[in-house]
Amino acid sequence: MPATVIDGKELGQTLRGDMTKEVSQLKEQGITPHLTVIIVGDDPASKSYVNGKKKATAQTGIASDVIEMPSSTSEAELLEKINDLNHEESVHGILVQLPLPDHINEQTVIETISPHKDVDGFHPINIGNMMAGNDTFLPCTPYGIIKMLHSYGIQIKGKHAVVIGRSNIVGKPVGQLLLNEHATVTYCHSRTHNLTDFTTSADILIAAVGKPNVIRAEHIKQGAAIIDVGINRQDDGSLTGDVDFASAAEKASYITPVPKGVGPMTITMLLQNTIKAAKGLSRFGR
Ligand code: GUN
Repeated sequence: MPATVIDGKELGQTLRGDMTKEVSQLKEQGITPHLTVIIVGDDPASKSYVNGKKKATAQTGIASDVIEMPSSTSEAELLEKINDLNHEESVHGILVQLPLPDHINEQTVIETISPHKDVDGFHPINIGNMMAGNDTFLPCTPYGIIKMLHSYGIQIKGKHAVVIGRSNIVGKPVGQLLLNEHATVTYCHSRTHNLTDFTTSADILIAAVGKPNVIRAEHIKQGAAIIDVGINRQDDGSLTGDVDFASAAEKASYITPVPKGVGPMTITMLLQNTIKAAKGLSRFGR
């Protein structure tokens, strides 16, 4: 039987509907959740992601602004801007779109954003809290993946979850969140030998490879839940994931499509984190 398709767009819209109500209640209390996004340079993919974030905030009633800085911006100028926003009371969430130009140290930038406003969940303090299982800002893509698994009733506890990819944004944190939910977690990456030995024993397979259609039916276990984090642009301009959807869907029990899978959930969880920041619910208050 072909897999159930996990509809990230529909789930995201349902969650955003609840958030819209919550935002209007906050506004009645005089709090307008406010996200500021900084984009440095003019990478077209980054611009498109930032536009998506701006649209989603507007739909939910969250205030947002986008600060565009030229690629010639120095690291010191960017850090100064972040420091200003850290002290700006009306701004609850700060997101610096990555990647940054080579002359700017991303880690320094991440560590300059106040952990209370770190709606990406990338600050070492928030990563540490996530690892400890404390309530904190969770990185948006991993958070969205966990929401999808919960919403579709996919059991995590006791299952073997295999994560392909070890980025700080997706691979490492999604493995940690699955571990927090009592999965047995295996990390695979570009240096892993005999990858298929691991992927074919995965009850939950998270593909965050960044290469189009590299995971096919022969790599997966019958009845597995497949989460495809890849967003690869093809020559004809269309998007495809890391998973060959057609063949994998014949063998999996659940599978996310690309587009309309993980992508819309990432933005949804950014909205959720911004609301959390506005409510002063970071671990330390504000
Ligand atoms: N670039 C790609 N994904 C992300 C993300 O989740 N947050 C930020 N800030 N930049 C990104």
